[in-house]
Amino acid sequence: MRVIQTTCAADEAEALLDALLAEHLVGCGNLIPGVRSRYRWQGDIQDDEEVLLVMETTKENAPAAAARLRALHSYDVPKILTLAPSACDTDYLRWLADVTRPGGDCGAEGAAARDAEADAPDAWLARDPLPAEPVAIVERWLGEAFEARAQENPHAVALATVDPDGRPSVRMVLCSHLDAAAGRFTIYTNIESRKGRAVRHEPRAALVFHWGARQVRVEGNVEPTPDAQCDAYFASRPLEARLGAWASAQSEPVGSRDALLEKLREVALRFGAKEESDPVPRPPHWGGLTLVAESVELWVSRTGRIHDRAVWRRSGSGWNATRLQP
Ligand SMILES: Cc1cc2nc3c(=O)[nH]c(=O)nc-3n(C[C@H](O)[C@H](O)[C@H](O)COP(=O)(O)O)c2cc1C
Repeated sequence: MRVIQTTCAADEAEALLDALLAEHLVGCGNLIPGVRSRYRWQGDIQDDEEVLLVMETTKENAPAAAARLRALHSYDVPKILTLAPSACDTDYLRWLADVTRPGGDCGAEGAAARDAEADAPDAWLARDPLPAEPVAIVERWLGEAFEARAQENPHAVALATVDPDGRPSVRMVLCSHLDAAAGRFTIYTNIESRKGRAVRHEPRAALVFHWGARQVRVEGNVEPTPDAQCDAYFASRPLEARLGAWASAQSEPVGSRDALLEKLREVALRFGAKEESDPVPRPPHWGGLTLVAESVELWVSRTGRIHDRAVWRRSGSGWNATRLQP
């Protein structure tokens, strides 16, 4: 592979990218928002050649430059490799190291990119063989999502079920219990709700977690959560949530918000509950749904959309891992 290499200073990067594209690419169409619309491969660079654009980015312009380069790659403009030798974007450098490794001559920046790859978040998922067990990784990711404090409910998860008439439905819930050793994910809800009725009829479900560059998909069978576990969790909830579990016939229509609040007042009176410490029994219609994982997919976002993705399927007492194309 012959590499046509062009180097530019930070403040010239934009103009040089334009010039380079003007020289080798012509055409029309709005491929990239905010970039002049004239990118089409002209064919004057041979099939076995690639264009390497070296942008000498600085800390200040690196995010903008990286965003622009990502946009370029995401639109699949052919044969343009770009190098932003900035330590500010290790994801990008890692991706670049991947695409330039076979025969590519990236010099010091390439080496830096390869170093960055080894330190990239979740670099282990880029390597084979894959880890033997996925749920402990989900548990670790969940813990890290809590530590990061980047979202209000890191244990929020989309739960998909199938209604008795075959219609799929999905909603956010909280994964309040994860038994990693057993691969059991528990959510608490009104079991007479739409989702509760769905899993009673079709006891299979799917979950999706999303934290930044990470996604986890879980599929499996749904079992009722043991009573003692539901009791303990219910008792740990704030008073208003415990009363609300009695007051709300979840998923059913209600005439007005006032009518709902009136039901809440009636329930509080019925149980004589005013303080957080006042006991409220767990309603018979409130409980847990435990999804026993049959498959777990881990996904990590990578620049250039060459994401890392693998699925683990239960096999006897262990798991079978398979890498998937992104
Ligand atoms: C972040 C988030 C977390 C939620 N957690 C729960 C939960 O743990 N249990 C629950 O029953 N509903 C939860 N909900 C509300 C559900 O999304 C949904 O509205 C409700 O369960 C009724 O769904 P259904 O009619 O499909 O059964 C949550 C909503 C959001 C946005």
